[in-house]
Amino acid sequence: MILKDWTDEKAKAFGRETLSFAHDLHERPLFTDEGLAAALEAYPRARLGVFTMGEDPTDWTTWRKGSADGLSGEQLLEAAKTGRIWLNLREANLYLKPYADLADEVFAEKEAMTPGLKTFKRDVGLLISSANAQVFYHLDVPLVSLWQIRGVKQVYVYPPKAPFVGEEALEKIVLRETAEQFAFDPAWDAGAQAVELVPGRMVTWAQNAPHRITNGPMLNVSLSMEFMTPQALMRANVIYANGVLRRRAGLRPRLAPGFGPGNIGKLAVARGAKALKLQKPNERVLPATFRLDAAQPGVVLPV
Ligand SMILES: [Fe+2]
Repeated sequence: MILKDWTDEKAKAFGRETLSFAHDLHERPLFTDEGLAAALEAYPRARLGVFTMGEDPTDWTTWRKGSADGLSGEQLLEAAKTGRIWLNLREANLYLKPYADLADEVFAEKEAMTPGLKTFKRDVGLLISSANAQVFYHLDVPLVSLWQIRGVKQVYVYPPKAPFVGEEALEKIVLRETAEQFAFDPAWDAGAQAVELVPGRMVTWAQNAPHRITNGPMLNVSLSMEFMTPQALMRANVIYANGVLRRRAGLRPRLAPGFGPGNIGKLAVARGAKALKLQKPNERVLPATFRLDAAQPGVVLPV
């Protein structure tokens, strides 16, 4: 068993509450320096997310994308160890066999331990990030669990409701009119749950709960596992439909859980709007504004 302290109570609350678990993935050789360098080497470079960021947790506009052409996997790991870099290997389970196997193992265990659970759209991402790096306040549309492998990080989780995120702000994110990162007020920390992640701990939170992350003063390695369940996909579609109804029909729809007739109708609205391409995504695609160089891997250079 990978998870050490799974209980029926936790299974019931999964996806609705912030929960913390013990695991043993950090003991696997996949995550030694050699293992990480091999993953960075084998992962398609064009898909690798390379980012840097400023220090003010409210200034998410300092999140910048970079390029790392010509660096070996070992040099990329060196960049993370010496610089202020966030490396994101999204969907590593699609591109790297060991991560595909790991995803199968984790999700099979999760489904076996939770009667009736069905997961899909599984995305296991490998995150390799520098000492003191941060991820700004944002939320994700699917369900997420974050598994700590190396280093220590602080995760702040906020309730998925106003003022932390209002329904209209949520609709903008699900409709992809806006980036997943958005304005953060430090006063909201009073309403946050702070979780310290150390190797061998995993945390998961309510679907769409905003969160932000700050690394401790050491290299951090984590796995982010995103997935959908029928309930989670229904919620995403209802939010999508609410956004469409607000924009196209001048209605003021409200978000409610479940599979009742109202939500089934909204599911049809969301599917129809997607088929007709009524909503055009308006996300700003970040251009690369820095590059890493093999000669000095940890230094952020202008493009
Ligand atoms: Fe996230």
